[in-house]
Amino acid sequence: MDAAHMGADLEKVLITEEEIHARLDELATEIWAEYEGKDLLLVGVLKGAVMVMADLSRALPGTAPVDWMAVSSYGSGTKSSGVVRILKDLDTDITGKHVLIVEDIVDSGLTLSWIKANLESRSPASVEICTLLRKPEAAKVEIDVKWVGFDIANEFVVGYGLDYAENYRNLREVGTLAPHVYA
Ligand code: PRP
Repeated sequence: MDAAHMGADLEKVLITEEEIHARLDELATEIWAEYEGKDLLLVGVLKGAVMVMADLSRALPGTAPVDWMAVSSYGSGTKSSGVVRILKDLDTDITGKHVLIVEDIVDSGLTLSWIKANLESRSPASVEICTLLRKPEAAKVEIDVKWVGFDIANEFVVGYGLDYAENYRNLREVGTLAPHVYA
């Protein structure tokens, strides 16, 4: 679906499909310059990263294996507690590999901080992060994100993999929801 199919549920489009694809093409060029000839593994974090992984990986001018993790916040059930439970681990042994974590959004940074530390404990050659979106004002931990598509304001966004109650992941653009959707 695109913004036109959202009707009154859409407040505004923040980033168009064209802008997303153009930025991912730029990032893919930079990423390939870093990893060409190296043993690279792309790691996506389900479910939000599916769209970014699909487009970023296809924009690379060469082959790179892809693997997936699924995680959830542990304990209280509140999101971004920083304590993470692995629901689905990698199928790949990453010893000696250059791991690039591909994400849709870094919000508080707590999830990625935990995942990065967890992967670093498995003796990879390196672990870096690429995210389409980042909210600098929401950061609760300092986390080194090597490739960022867009820095955005601290507001709730959906689309291009990002959901509200599992909906709108399939929106082509990134946008904000009208207040009545939350009511
Ligand atoms: C989102 C996103 C990151 C995390 C970022 O996932 O994909 O993994 O939140 O938040 P943080 O920086 O505050 O830790 P979510 O938990 O919504 O799961 P999903 O990918 O299945 O939508």
